[in-house]
Amino acid sequence: MRSTLRIVVALGLSVAAGLAMACSASAPDLQQVAPSVASDAGNRTGQEVFASTCAVCHGSEGEGVEDWKVRDEDGRLPPPPLNGEGHTWHHSDGVLYRIVSEGGLGLGFGSNMPSFKDELSREEIVAVIEYVKTLWEGKEIDGFLILDSQRELSVGDPYPGGEPGE
Ligand code: HEC
Repeated sequence: MRSTLRIVVALGLSVAAGLAMACSASAPDLQQVAPSVASDAGNRTGQEVFASTCAVCHGSEGEGVEDWKVRDEDGRLPPPPLNGEGHTWHHSDGVLYRIVSEGGLGLGFGSNMPSFKDELSREEIVAVIEYVKTLWEGKEIDGFLILDSQRELSVGDPYPGGEPGE
């Protein structure tokens, strides 16, 4: 009886170790592309934050990756375009803030979008989202400006602690 128990425990431990290895084997991918924090973090412009922190995944012009709708083998989506060609403008300021602050995992879905709340100040998160919105200028869907549509959405869900379009 004793030895059976020991075998079961040992088996359990090796399964756990295998899982841990599987997890740490996939983790470095994210680490490699994780943004470095500039020494003057805290008061950079949205464009500076975008270039140093977001462009590595979302592209220097926010164009995203080509096959951004195709999930990988883990069911995760690649970085989408943020330049108005995707559906980023379907999200209110509050939702966009939470995506950047908490990351996809923080919001409870399997995702490779990192959390930036430990790296970016509230002002920088707002600034980078406002910068992203400048990429939407003049873009229309079905005859309406996506900027107007997103602004309306944000009235009911502004940036935390701020006003829409701040
Ligand atoms: C490590 C790569 C990576 C970095 C760096 C990154 N993102 Fe993302 N981002 C993603 C991925 C992948 C998704 C798609 C998440 C999903 O749908 O699961 C995403 C999604 C988003 C979305 C939701 C877009 C939509 O159309 O729904 C926003 C907004 C966003 N990112 C903004 C940013 C901003 C702003 C930065 C810089 C502060 C940034 N991201 C940095 C990978 C990254």
